Amino acid sequence: MESFLKPDLTGRRVLLAVSGGVAAYKAAELCRLLVRCGGAVQVMMTDAARAFVGEATFAALSGRQVATGLFDPQQESQIGHIRLADEAELLVCAPTTADLLARLAHGLAGDLVGTVYLAYAGPVLLAPAMNVRMWEHPATQANVETLVRRGHRFVGPSRGEMACGHTGPGRMAEPEEILQAVGACLAGDDLRGRRILVSAGGTREPLDPVRYLGNRSSGRMGFALAAEASARGAEVVLVAGPSSLPTPYGVQRVEVESAAEMARAVFHHAAGADAVIMAAAVADFRPVERAERKVKKKDVGSSWTLSLEPTTDILGELGAREGRRPLLVGFAAETGPELEAYASAKLAAKGCDLLVANDVLQPGSGFESETNQAVILGREGLREVMALLEKRQLAARILDRVVRGLAR
Ligand code: CTP
Repeated sequence: MESFLKPDLTGRRVLLAVSGGVAAYKAAELCRLLVRCGGAVQVMMTDAARAFVGEATFAALSGRQVATGLFDPQQESQIGHIRLADEAELLVCAPTTADLLARLAHGLAGDLVGTVYLAYAGPVLLAPAMNVRMWEHPATQANVETLVRRGHRFVGPSRGEMACGHTGPGRMAEPEEILQAVGACLAGDDLRGRRILVSAGGTREPLDPVRYLGNRSSGRMGFALAAEASARGAEVVLVAGPSSLPTPYGVQRVEVESAAEMARAVFHHAAGADAVIMAAAVADFRPVERAERKVKKKDVGSSWTLSLEPTTDILGELGAREGRRPLLVGFAAETGPELEAYASAKLAAKGCDLLVANDVLQPGSGFESETNQAVILGREGLREVMALLEKRQLAARILDRVVRGLAR
């Protein structure tokens, strides 16, 4: 999985309840993903779950003893059910069978999972998995309604062919999707109700139908920002230049190619946005002429001289607008020791509220890298030098600043 898509779960305490369904094997993959994202995962299993997957699998993946029995005195003294409930920051039930769903809805405490659930007061995420008719049964739907009213979140079920041969809603969501939902549950909601526009990637300025002028932007920084903002509850539009990166969970992606297309899309979606984050590497110049047909070598002779004209400065135009406007975040890819001087001049010139500057020649920073080392500058002298961070982590720090800016 692309690292910008991975939520940062470092040290987050996730209690994963596995109940007995065929999808239990997918819970093993979920457990692996949670651990890979830094989560401290404690697994508990129902008896039925153990008929599908052995507890040794989960013990190996989580690095902890799996909690199974309510009535096992040795386990109870080591990982008592109240301790499980007290220590968890998030309870994830994956898969949630029809039976578990019913027991949770009615508060039945006849086994470990039911008991821990009643002793637990934090957020709950449920990933149902069952036969389509069982899912659609009024009894199940009534239980779902009860649990939604109780404030629990659901991920899935998705539609598709199930192990029983039926097709329809009932399949457990894929582990990656549940992972994103876990990230969203733990990220908090500090951007809920906010609309955020992020631009990402490089633009392509056509010379003819086959050639273009482009740049080395990978789009990862902008995609990481969109993923993180969405996880924190924002409604996110991602205006992206050509990129093969997958669209982050919950994000509306608008694909553009040239700087002019990006300008149109950004201006359109900026109306009504609370913040605009321009992480895209927009071409500053484009060819004055675009040939309708491929330019042949014989047409240009021994050298080809291009005439370039400036593109619209999208950020600069937004920054120059009078009246109420979104919070503006710019990026500056610089090289060399004058980085901060250039960056603060850019902050003022483009009229933005925050500017994230990085030296693209530093190791671990820049276009194709998974990490970035940046300094965040703001109006009124804000200057925050960041450590070398994964792009997703840097995105989180930038959004912390956006949250503060929006609160003013
Ligand atoms: N930007 C933009 N529209 C453009 C060019 C850039 O909105 N036509 C935005 C970028 O998305 C970025 C910021 O402006 O957030 C800085 O881009 P940069 O190209 O470094 O700025 P310039 O003012 O062109 O400065 P330089 O002289 O360094 O090229």
